[in-house]
Amino acid sequence: MSVTAQQIRDALAKVASPRGAPLPEAGVLSEIVVNDGKVFFSINVDSAEAKAWEDVRARADAAVRALPGVTSSMIALTAERKPGGAAPMSTPQARRGVAPASAHRAPQSAHGSPMGKQAPVTGVGAIIAVASGKGGVGKSTTALNLALGLRDLGLRVGVLDADIYGPSMPKLTGIREKPQLNDSKRMIPIQRFGLAVMSIGFLVDEETPMIWRGPMVMSAITQMLREVEWGTLDVMVVDMPPGTGDAQLTLAQQVPLHGAIIVSTPQDLSLIDARRGLAMFTKVNVPVLGIVENMSYFQCPHCGTRSDIFGHGGARREAQQLGVPFLGEVPLHMDIRATSDAGTPLVESEPDSDHAKIYRSIAAAINDRLKIATTAA
Ligand SMILES: Nc1ncnc2c1ncn2[C@@H]1O[C@H](COP(=O)(O)OP(=O)(O)O)[C@@H](O)[C@H]1O
Ligand SMILES: [Mg+2]
Repeated sequence: MSVTAQQIRDALAKVASPRGAPLPEAGVLSEIVVNDGKVFFSINVDSAEAKAWEDVRARADAAVRALPGVTSSMIALTAERKPGGAAPMSTPQARRGVAPASAHRAPQSAHGSPMGKQAPVTGVGAIIAVASGKGGVGKSTTALNLALGLRDLGLRVGVLDADIYGPSMPKLTGIREKPQLNDSKRMIPIQRFGLAVMSIGFLVDEETPMIWRGPMVMSAITQMLREVEWGTLDVMVVDMPPGTGDAQLTLAQQVPLHGAIIVSTPQDLSLIDARRGLAMFTKVNVPVLGIVENMSYFQCPHCGTRSDIFGHGGARREAQQLGVPFLGEVPLHMDIRATSDAGTPLVESEPDSDHAKIYRSIAAAINDRLKIATTAA
C-alpha cells in the first residue's frame, strides 16, 4: 500500500508549530506531493519567524519518514518576505529562514574566497557551478563529462544536480535507485562511475511537473547541499538551473561557489545569454573559470569530416572580448548524445575516444584555474 497525502497530514498533526497549533492547522503547508513513497512539500512562513520554524521542519521530516511506506522526503522551509515591508532575501535573517536547521552559520572562511560569507560545506573542497544562459545547450552533458574528467585527474568528485526544474542526472547516469539514509537520517548520495551524485530527480518522479516558487528552489538545493552526507570531496560540480533569473542569482549567491563554468553553443543568441551568465556571476563575486563551446562544430560520424554548421568559434571570440578564459570546444557528435541517452556518459564508456580527451583537457584546464583561484585568494 502506498502512502497517501492524508496519512502524511495525519502524521503531521502530531507535530506542533511554534505557537502550539498542529502543523496542518497552522496555515503554512503547501500541497503535499506523494509519489511512489516519496514525499514533498514546503512549510511557508514569514522570514522573521523562520528560525523558530527550523525545528518544526526537522520534526515534520522525522514524522514523515517514520511512516511505513515513505521511502524519502524533502520538506522545504520557505521564508517569504512580506510584500512591501520585511527584509529582502539577502539579509542574514531571511537567509537563515531558507537554510535548514543543520546549516549553522560557520565562521568566516579562512582563505577569504570570494564566497567567504557562505558557510563552506564540510568535507567538500571546491564547489564549481556549470551554468548556461538557456536550456538545451548541453549543460548537464558537459557537467557530467567534466566531472568524470576531473575524476580521471585523481580527484574525488561529487555532482549536485541543482537543475530542479529539469533534473538530468537520473537519465544521464542511469541511476534509478533512491538515496539511502544513514544513522543520523542524512541522505547518502548515490555512487556511480566513482562519483557521488545527488539529484532531486532521485526523489521525485522525473515526469512529475514540479511547481517551484522562488524560496522553495533555494531550500531544496540547500538541503541537497548541506543535509546530504557527501563525505570527503575535492570538488563538487553543480549542474545549475538554466538561465540567469532570480532563482539562479540567489543560488549563485548562497552556494559557496569557488568558480563557474559557462556552457554556450556558438550561436549569437546563446552567446548573449552566456554574457548574462557572466554578468550574474560577476555581480556576486564568483570568478568565471571560463567558457566551454558545446556543439561547436559538427563531426560526421562516418567520415570524421567536420563542418561548422553553427558558426564555430563564436564562444572563443566572445570569451576574448569579455576577458574570460576559453576552456575548449566540444563537437556536436552522435556518440555524445547516444551515450548520454543511455546513461553511460562518454568519458566513462568511451574513455579512449577523441571526445573523452577533449573533456579531460577541459577538466585539466578547470583544475589549473581552480588551483589559481584558491591559492591566489
Ligand atoms: N556535444 C554534443 N553532441 C551531441 N549532442 C549533445 C552534445 N551535448 C549535448 N547533447 C545533447 O543535447 C541535448 C541537451 O543536452 P543537455 O545536457 O540535457 O542540455 P541542458 O542541460 O543544457 O538542457 C541532449 O539530448 C544531449 O544528449
Ligand atoms: Mg540539463
